[in-house]
Amino acid sequence: MHTAIVDQWGTNPKYSEADTPDEPAPGSGLVRIKVLAAGVHALVRLRVAGKHYSANTLPHIPGTDGVGTLASGQAVYFNALGSPSGGSFQEYVVVSEKQVQKLPDGVDPMQAAAFVNPASSSWMAIKTRTVNLPADFSVLILGATSASGKVAIDLTRQLGAKKVIGLARNATALASLGLDEFIVLQEDVTSTDFSPANNVDLILDYLYGPAAEALLQKFQPTRAVQYVQIGSLGGESINLTAAMLRSKNIAMRGSGPGSWTLDQFANELPGMLEAMKTIQMHKVNVIPLKDIEQRWTEKSSDRTVITP
Ligand SMILES: NC(=O)c1ccc[n+]([C@@H]2O[C@H](COP(=O)([O-])OP(=O)(O)OC[C@H]3O[C@@H](n4cnc5c(N)ncnc54)[C@H](OP(=O)(O)O)[C@@H]3O)[C@@H](O)[C@H]2O)c1
Repeated sequence: MHTAIVDQWGTNPKYSEADTPDEPAPGSGLVRIKVLAAGVHALVRLRVAGKHYSANTLPHIPGTDGVGTLASGQAVYFNALGSPSGGSFQEYVVVSEKQVQKLPDGVDPMQAAAFVNPASSSWMAIKTRTVNLPADFSVLILGATSASGKVAIDLTRQLGAKKVIGLARNATALASLGLDEFIVLQEDVTSTDFSPANNVDLILDYLYGPAAEALLQKFQPTRAVQYVQIGSLGGESINLTAAMLRSKNIAMRGSGPGSWTLDQFANELPGMLEAMKTIQMHKVNVIPLKDIEQRWTEKSSDRTVITP
């Protein structure tokens, strides 16, 4: 079969050949999936770059999830993190059967390959990393124009949010997203007007870095705020002063593999996949596996999927 392989961190994955894995024995807890499509998520790129805590062995077979079919022909979504046969950028992958879920009727396989990972970011954050959010809560999404941020607008509403505020750099993009309110991040982030954030119950942070630091210093919460750190598009670190933590009613947590378990992810999968029916469809950029090396650095504003 064909596979993608990274033999040095930070290089483009190469199209390569490997032995097709055998169908696992019944009762092994594993299943073999014929891969139809697998998303090139920020997580996948970070792992290929050697910059994510969840990938530390070479050679590395990229891809963290995907859609495919079982031997029965059943279409499924699967999570490949922790898979014994490597990532999802290959023709066949063997994964734990707990990490496989039937694709609900009405969910487009390409949309699932592209957007279940972005969707999981806010779903897992709210389901596993918040406590007793008030009914009709209000939420601020830092990085609302990212794929994950856009999907979070629909999902947070589905999970009970009555007011959704987005923050990002691009005013035109923000205005097109159906947000209740938005905050345009200024080039000098400290001159941003963060006041709409004063009345939120929840902050989902895909940015971190200077924008998050400026927000945490400047906003004046009027209620208990749960702050969930999810992504670091803007930077890996901030200066989190003692005074900031003591002077504001903020509970901070992170959400990602490690702060939730793969079992928790598996438990949430059916709900996430059902929720995919309700989110807006977005365009998908398709790259055949054989072209992965040449097209790896291709810029696209749409989420890319690899098709073996
Ligand atoms: N923990 C989890 O469970 C989990 C799951 C999925 C993703 N993530 C993380 O969440 C983040 C978002 O992932 P994604 O795949 O949704 O990202 P994405 O779609 O690739 O996001 C790209 C967008 O982010 C915005 N952006 C980039 N750098 C920025 C900066 N310095 N300041 C402000 N905005 C910036 C840009 O929007 P504009 O051009 O409009 O400004 C850009 O179009 C990543 O860090 C990813 O690793 C975490």
